[in-house]
Amino acid sequence: MGSASRGKGLVEQAELFSLEDLAPPKAQASFKLDSPRSPARGFNRAPDQTVSKSKLIAGYLAKYQFVTKGGLYIDGFAAPQKRDDETAWTARRVLEINPPRIRRLWLCDNDPKGLLQLRRLKAAHHRKPAFRHVSIMEGDFNETVKTILMAGRMYKRTPVFALLDQRTAECHWSTVQLLARKAGVRKIELMYFLGTSWIHRSLTQSRTPARTTQLDKWWGGDTWRSLVELTQQDLALHVANRFIKELGYSYVKPYPILQRDGEKKVAFYLIHASDHPDAPKLMGRAYLDVVGDIARSPVDSQRNWLDDPAP
Ligand SMILES: C[S@@+](CC[C@H](N)C(=O)[O-])C[C@H]1O[C@@H](n2cnc3c(N)ncnc32)[C@H](O)[C@@H]1O
Repeated sequence: MGSASRGKGLVEQAELFSLEDLAPPKAQASFKLDSPRSPARGFNRAPDQTVSKSKLIAGYLAKYQFVTKGGLYIDGFAAPQKRDDETAWTARRVLEINPPRIRRLWLCDNDPKGLLQLRRLKAAHHRKPAFRHVSIMEGDFNETVKTILMAGRMYKRTPVFALLDQRTAECHWSTVQLLARKAGVRKIELMYFLGTSWIHRSLTQSRTPARTTQLDKWWGGDTWRSLVELTQQDLALHVANRFIKELGYSYVKPYPILQRDGEKKVAFYLIHASDHPDAPKLMGRAYLDVVGDIARSPVDSQRNWLDDPAP
């Protein structure tokens, strides 16, 4: 468990890659970045940050499945964030990657309306193609994750990607540890959501025993109180360092997702943790495709590496 310290430095242990590494790969799965959106405009439309998140993850997995020749996908918090706008829905975008190579997907949620949407999504994709299995896991992911890990579907060499797209603090640190410690030739690859632009408020305003207990489970102890001293970026680096130091991942990078396209304010970070040396390069390419060459991101081409080496 980590107490708050400035996270800079340790993340540099992760592999850095040059812009030459970011040339498009020869073979690319087709994933339509600009698939039509509905509703076209207005109140029910998902915000840019949600759209970017879903595009980045599906864009990455479209590349990843070429390297892994398939693999398994666990989505711990899988129902659409904006229930009325399914076009910005990560699980749906992942299922629509063409060609479909991910063989088995576990889509988990605890909300009845979200589960209905997940079941409709399953009906459209289960066994299409025949090798593809979609399982809907109902209930608290911190419990259902144990069933998934014990299901006997993960052999030593099976590549597995897990998306932990919590709203704020629903994913227990013990759940992240379980995934990270699953035995295999490689670790389960993780994409962890960190809501940096609202977590400070949540940390300072949480006073009821129920809420502090939830934060203790999220953080894996009670040292989360000192996180309020960190800037948003340092908080992202601090959490990224936990994936290296506590969980043993080799390649960890925090990707900022902007609140609105074309503006600078960061809404949240997606922390990508892998022990595959190609993973950060593929994620860097996907990030450039979807979000762009953003200042202080892992693919910032204008970074002064001497004065500002992280992330
Ligand atoms: C941020 S949304 C997920 C967004 C989704 N990944 C997308 O791409 O649109 C978080 C989801 O987690 C669900 N949820 C909250 N707590 C949960 C828990 N303990 N176990 C499983 N699902 C949970 C909520 O119902 C909600 O659908």
